[in-house]
Amino acid sequence: MSEERLQKILSRAGVTSRRKAEEMILAGRVTVNGRVEAQLGSKADLERDHIKVDGKLLRAPRDLVYIALNKPKGYVTTLDDPQGRPKVTDLLKGLKVRVYPVGRLDYNSEGLVVLTNDGDFANRVMSTSGGIEKRYLVKANGLLTDEQLEEFREGIPLGGRRTAPAKIRLIRKAQNPWYEVALTEGRHHQVRLMFQHFGRLVEKLKRVRIGPLQLGSLQPAAWRRLEPREVDAFRRLFRYQDEHGHLPGEEHRPHSLRPAASTAR
Ligand code: URA
Repeated sequence: MSEERLQKILSRAGVTSRRKAEEMILAGRVTVNGRVEAQLGSKADLERDHIKVDGKLLRAPRDLVYIALNKPKGYVTTLDDPQGRPKVTDLLKGLKVRVYPVGRLDYNSEGLVVLTNDGDFANRVMSTSGGIEKRYLVKANGLLTDEQLEEFREGIPLGGRRTAPAKIRLIRKAQNPWYEVALTEGRHHQVRLMFQHFGRLVEKLKRVRIGPLQLGSLQPAAWRRLEPREVDAFRRLFRYQDEHGHLPGEEHRPHSLRPAASTAR
């Protein structure tokens, strides 16, 4: 390893986002070899230096590992479940490295979960302001009207804060229809709560895509390592966002305006 800026080291080690790491440094909460480093330009080497945050020593993950897993229903994505229910990490048989899930998927939801030991990557994918799109297939207990679909797209009040513009389209019309939904936020139970807002219950919920990564043909309970080119695709998005302040193709419009496209594609 070589020297890197402190805020980058903190974020890669999973402490927090790079921006919050900067605040922690400026607040004097970070020491390098026993000395407070309260300047943002400071560099250090996680392998060589003793870096402490609030007195706690940081350790470097040696190999960065990225996993895609198809979560079946009946598993939690937390590492510590008070009810002792099965965890998605129980499915990673044979993996020697400790990884943790990037974001949440409800106990009763299924589909794509990414797991990693790269804290920076996890923070970037989870960041609600990051705008990385997550795509879901949703079976509901009834149809939404055209007006409700439009509201869904524009944003609805949820927990005192409007949801960001979203995409939704009907993909199978039936008594219990299927929708494809794409969100750039990841609020707790967001899809279920958005349907509930219109008096509809979600009966099935499957995540099929996170940013550039598709669930594809991965079988339920199966997992695989991401290809380097798949990790690179995420990194390209992060870089683009750092340079432009938003993601490619992201429209900049107030919530009250209609989205340009009415489908989830
Ligand atoms: N939205 C939900 O309501 N649940 C999930 O598991 C994912 C998104």
